Amino acid sequence: MSQSPQKSWQARFSQAADALTEGYVESLSFDQRLWRYDIAGSIAHAEMLADAGLITKADSQAIIRGLRQIETDIQAGQFKWDPAFEDIHMAVEAALVERVGEPGKRLHTARSRNDQVALDLRLYTRDAIDLDIVPLLEDLQRALVDSAEKYAEAVMPAYTHLQRAQPVTAGAYLLAYVEQFGRDRERFLDARKRVNVSPLGAGAVAGSTLPIDRQAVARRLGFPGVTRNSIDSISDRDFILEFLAAAALCAGHLSRLAEDWILFSSTEFQFVNIADAFCTGSSMMPQKKNPDVLELVRGKTGRIYAALTGMLMITKGLPQAYNRDLQEDKIHLFSAHDTLKATLEITAAVVRNTAFRTDRLAAATEGGYMDATILAEYLVGKGVPFREAHQHVGRLVAQAEKSARQLGQLSLDELQAVSDRIEADVFEYLGSANVVRRYQSEGNAGPDSTRRQIAFWREALSK
Ligand code: ARG
Repeated sequence: MSQSPQKSWQARFSQAADALTEGYVESLSFDQRLWRYDIAGSIAHAEMLADAGLITKADSQAIIRGLRQIETDIQAGQFKWDPAFEDIHMAVEAALVERVGEPGKRLHTARSRNDQVALDLRLYTRDAIDLDIVPLLEDLQRALVDSAEKYAEAVMPAYTHLQRAQPVTAGAYLLAYVEQFGRDRERFLDARKRVNVSPLGAGAVAGSTLPIDRQAVARRLGFPGVTRNSIDSISDRDFILEFLAAAALCAGHLSRLAEDWILFSSTEFQFVNIADAFCTGSSMMPQKKNPDVLELVRGKTGRIYAALTGMLMITKGLPQAYNRDLQEDKIHLFSAHDTLKATLEITAAVVRNTAFRTDRLAAATEGGYMDATILAEYLVGKGVPFREAHQHVGRLVAQAEKSARQLGQLSLDELQAVSDRIEADVFEYLGSANVVRRYQSEGNAGPDSTRRQIAFWREALSK
């Protein structure tokens, strides 16, 4: 480790920082991944300083040349990350001064690390949404829609309370997740509106007495506007919290899908077959094929929830405005971003490599009296009040259960003994295949509705 360089604030101090202090307050070890945004922000700031006459054109050119060199070096893995620098902002600025000298010392005019880090984080979060999360969510939705199309006619049980409820198409089941991931995508894009505002120029907390042009910097960085209040600009991280909240909801959806398919891949269900490439074996039990990938999709959700609660804890009770506690925000932002990105990516791959066993789905639709509701609705059609119809069918289910038969295996006489409104056409209603084709309400889980929903998503996802 090199000799600690002089701190920029050393003039006011009579002691150098203790080594323990230095090690404890540093963030370079984890915030160096902000380098791209830190440099982009500095270039925009330097250009603005020159335009505003606060530095010369020549100084601005030297600064930009130096920053571009640093960028190239970092990208090539040739930049020497000196742990003596506290954070990414100090490391880049020091490297700049080392390379271009005096002009480098003018870069921090009318700027603080407080607005600088707020800027870096907003640029980072915007890219995380635009380049990773939203495209990956769309890809996962596409994978699910493809699968829904494959199984648009395959009938399976829908469960409530994990008990067989009503027959649905496997396509409709898969499309339920497409809806959930669609709302996740909207949440990220909605959060993006509040992420996409430039805080630069707020300075340490109160702005600057120098004639800077905040709008010009914002335009250069692709922001539609600037924050209104300098104190707020450097104080809050609610834009990160919104990202984390959207990530937590999304992870919850991923975790539920994972749980379903872990269950569905068990010998008890055998509804799905997950390709070997997305499973792992046992070191001891030779027969095992375990859904570890999906178990980790479920398990890693914990990291994302931890990031959200961790960030809520950090910001709760912070006095207005900037406090160093906020430095910890990056840990949670990066952790949730990395985990969600990897999880979305592998979940889409699992979806593309999972086959539904239509024979097993069909077999599962036989038991469980999932045609009881249609029988009650059939009676409603014959003029019986629903509450009475419900009781008649309940009696018939109990009766069929005693003799281990399906409702459709009861004779017309047996059916009519409970309700004389039942006629021979009842057998065109009983059985899962009849049920799914008779669903009529908008958004139902039958094959026609499944096709309409697929068409909707194909169109929506092609934009
Ligand atoms: N590393 C700091 C952070 O992440 C940068 C801002 C530091 N500002 C300060 N006044 N110490 O928050």
